[in-house]
Amino acid sequence: MHDFAYSDGVLKCEGMPVQEIARNNPTPFYLYSYHTLVEHYRKLKAAFAEMDPLICFSMKSSSNLSICRALVNEGAGLDIVSGGELFRALKAGCPPEKIVYASVGKKEEEIAEAIKKKINLFNVESVPELIMIDTVAKKLNKKARVAVRVNPDVKADTHEYITTGTSENKFGIDLKTAEDIFDNANKYSNVELKGVHVHIGSQITDPAPFVDAISKVLEFVDERSISIEWINIGGGLGIVYSDEKATTGDEFASYILPLLRGRGLKLILEPGRFIAGNAGILVCKVLYVKTGATGKKFIIVDAGMNDLLRPSLYEAYHRIVPLVERKAEPRRYDVVGPVCESGDYLALDRDLPEVVPGEYLAVMGAGAYGFVMASNYNSRPRPAELMAYKGEVRTIRAAESYKDLIRGEKILKELK
Ligand code: LLP
Repeated sequence: MHDFAYSDGVLKCEGMPVQEIARNNPTPFYLYSYHTLVEHYRKLKAAFAEMDPLICFSMKSSSNLSICRALVNEGAGLDIVSGGELFRALKAGCPPEKIVYASVGKKEEEIAEAIKKKINLFNVESVPELIMIDTVAKKLNKKARVAVRVNPDVKADTHEYITTGTSENKFGIDLKTAEDIFDNANKYSNVELKGVHVHIGSQITDPAPFVDAISKVLEFVDERSISIEWINIGGGLGIVYSDEKATTGDEFASYILPLLRGRGLKLILEPGRFIAGNAGILVCKVLYVKTGATGKKFIIVDAGMNDLLRPSLYEAYHRIVPLVERKAEPRRYDVVGPVCESGDYLALDRDLPEVVPGEYLAVMGAGAYGFVMASNYNSRPRPAELMAYKGEVRTIRAAESYKDLIRGEKILKELK
């Protein structure tokens, strides 16, 4: 479900023509639907309702303050991976007791800050990190609550860059080492081992690897009679970008809840893409259409890999649609950006009705890992983020200016 659809021949977001929004705002820009965002959260929450889960939105997928706040207002917590995300999470008004913190490389200062701010749980990813958390907590004369992120060695069928749960990946702790940690819990006197965490990858539409991973973790907990309060089953729930089979929150829950029922555990989920992915689009303008020597046609738009990196980095598929619907014989195009890299594209060999310079295109499913992965490469200011909110379009992050590009830079006086 999402709130971007054609009606009366034009693409609308929550009933508002995107074409009009594009006329009033310089392109490229991200456009989110508040309604889609909160509906996705509510549906997942309802699907797992019998366990009253804490859903910590994975803010690495989309960390705009309004997006986080919209979800926090619904009762969500946040899954963070850095001191910067902790800062944002608190600015967004997230209660610290709803924050969980993963990352293989937490720095001492980041750990100290998170302990002082009293976050709910660190998802610890190695023994040296656990020792560091214990040491920092001791110095602060505090206790740190920790969940052990186990690596269940389960392969999920997704892009190799976004699989995290096999023994080849840098994430989590193997089961043998996790066992040692729980056996020697009293060695870490300023740490409370409160839970286990597992996250096997991203954009996984098949429930089977989740079932495998969670079963392995529970078997581990049962066999060693480990006493924990929380089980965090991570994120990774896939969405529809092209022809994937949609798996609903209810379907996921129907596979996962039977494993967890009756154990008295508190449940955390960390979805990012499932909530934000289809709640946002990238709107860009066609600058030129050109035909190469071989007859290949290029649509050159004003958004590039610096605005949306996923196609270039993962060969990810994003649907691209004109804002004005038409039934014309499709032509085959590469949709490319202005960045000076051959890998700068939004789509290759894509069939679209004939496109003309000056018209707008929407890149669908850009709400997760879109703006957050944008960069200033080629000195391109990052685009604005807009949100459709109850019948109005509001700016939730202004487009960057040229001045923003040089913030903090200076010419050495010796060079002047
Ligand atoms: N929890 C942990 C520990 C994670 O590492 C991640 C994502 C999530 C939750 C949220 O995963 P999600 O529900 O969004 O799948 N940039 C890539 C995705 C990287 C995912 C990293 N970890 C992309 O554009 O596909």
